[in-house]
Amino acid sequence: MPNDNITLTAADRSVSLPLVHGSLGPSCIDIAALYRDTGHFTYDPGYAATASCKSAITYIDGDKGVLLYRGYPIEQLAEQSRFLEVAYLLLEGELPTVAQMTKFEDAVTHHTMMHESLKNFLHGFHYDAHPMAMLCASIASLSAFYHDTLDINDPAQRKLAAIRLIAKMPTIAAAAYRYSIGWPIRYPRNNLEYVTRFLHMMFEVPSEPLNLNPVAARALDLLFILHADHEQNASTSTVRLVGSTGANPYASVAAGIAALWGPAHGGANEAVLKMLAQIGDPKHVDQAVARAKDKESGFRLMGFGHRVYKNFDPRARIIRAMCHQVLAELGVNDPLLEVALKLEEAALKDEYFIERKLYPNVDFYSGIIYKALRIPTEMFTVMFAIARTAGWIAHWIEQHETPDARIGRPRQVYTGALKRDYVALDKR
Ligand code: SDX
Repeated sequence: MPNDNITLTAADRSVSLPLVHGSLGPSCIDIAALYRDTGHFTYDPGYAATASCKSAITYIDGDKGVLLYRGYPIEQLAEQSRFLEVAYLLLEGELPTVAQMTKFEDAVTHHTMMHESLKNFLHGFHYDAHPMAMLCASIASLSAFYHDTLDINDPAQRKLAAIRLIAKMPTIAAAAYRYSIGWPIRYPRNNLEYVTRFLHMMFEVPSEPLNLNPVAARALDLLFILHADHEQNASTSTVRLVGSTGANPYASVAAGIAALWGPAHGGANEAVLKMLAQIGDPKHVDQAVARAKDKESGFRLMGFGHRVYKNFDPRARIIRAMCHQVLAELGVNDPLLEVALKLEEAALKDEYFIERKLYPNVDFYSGIIYKALRIPTEMFTVMFAIARTAGWIAHWIEQHETPDARIGRPRQVYTGALKRDYVALDKR
């Protein structure tokens, strides 16, 4: 590598720092010696220019709108793969053979049941609890049930925890939904494939068989593929940070669920649908764009913009195309799709959005498809969490397989009071 160091010159001295090169993407400056050699930290709120780790799982080129899972383009995986195969790919690093896929699918299928006591846990919630609250709490509680997967240094236990999380997330998510609408919880049916099984747990009622349109399962499987991983996003970085303390996999993933819930992250898909419903009609789109440009309004176009993508989010392109096809095949006519298309068209022509390179992201269109699949708005971020569990646990395992992994502990720029002495209460 030419010139494998970079020299920084502070007021009175220079320091040479090594460059770290990956297989793709920009090189990074290894600043481990920076404080020792210069007395300075770096300052990067939001970590916009900071690599927190080395990872071989997902690569994003935000300028070109490229997304690779273990080197495979998201467009090819969306077209040719299925979610459970993508989960295997993220975990193991390679596409499975037939035998490997059969074994993996069998393992997931036989870990889909949740402990019966978890039903009581869910029943402890008020009926109108947000399903993300129920999911976050329930996943954190799994460490109370599965003591045989708490030794984070045992590769076999790490792998079994991964299988359990991928397998049980849909069961617990569906149970939370059913509880919130007062329906009996449905047990997972092992004769069904992963996504179809989930839809049955969500929508089947004792009184009649569920006639599920296969288009729905395919559409949801595709959305799960698109949401499965995304490098060091806020929730994945949270899982890594919590995992770096030695916390168990269930607590680490529960922390990821909590981080995903925010409207700036995974909660955006729920916020988008509420925003589209609020706009209501394509003729109000210009007013919404004007509000989004007005800093005083505090309003943002939810589903627009991205920390990394300064081009179209490749996932948004795929989901936009899916919208037309899925709604047509399901015979759904949703006026909000027209609002979304008009909103995208208006924003992409507007200097404010062009200048800031704000494009639709993965959350902009996904809610329209979830709605067509009769998934309630409050469950949209739960859908994101089910899919992202594969990425979260793949990163959690990768971190534990990294020999020099250390506890995450950023520093700060202190802006508080200088040292001062305590004053007794009667003297203040
Ligand atoms: C996800 O990181 C990932 O990979 C996340 C994700 C994944 O798969 O894990 O891709 C999933 O979280 C997608 C993002 C979902 N969030 C939203 O759609 C919420 C709306 N978008 C934003 O709030 C914002 O764009 C973020 C949070 C996504 C990115 O925030 P940044 O990178 O910190 O950008 P910023 O807030 O500094 O904005 C830069 C400028 C600002 O204007 P100026 O101060 O320069 O004048 O762009 C403006 C912002 O005001 N801006 C927007 C906007 N997003 C940014 N203005 C209007 N509407 C928006 N949506």
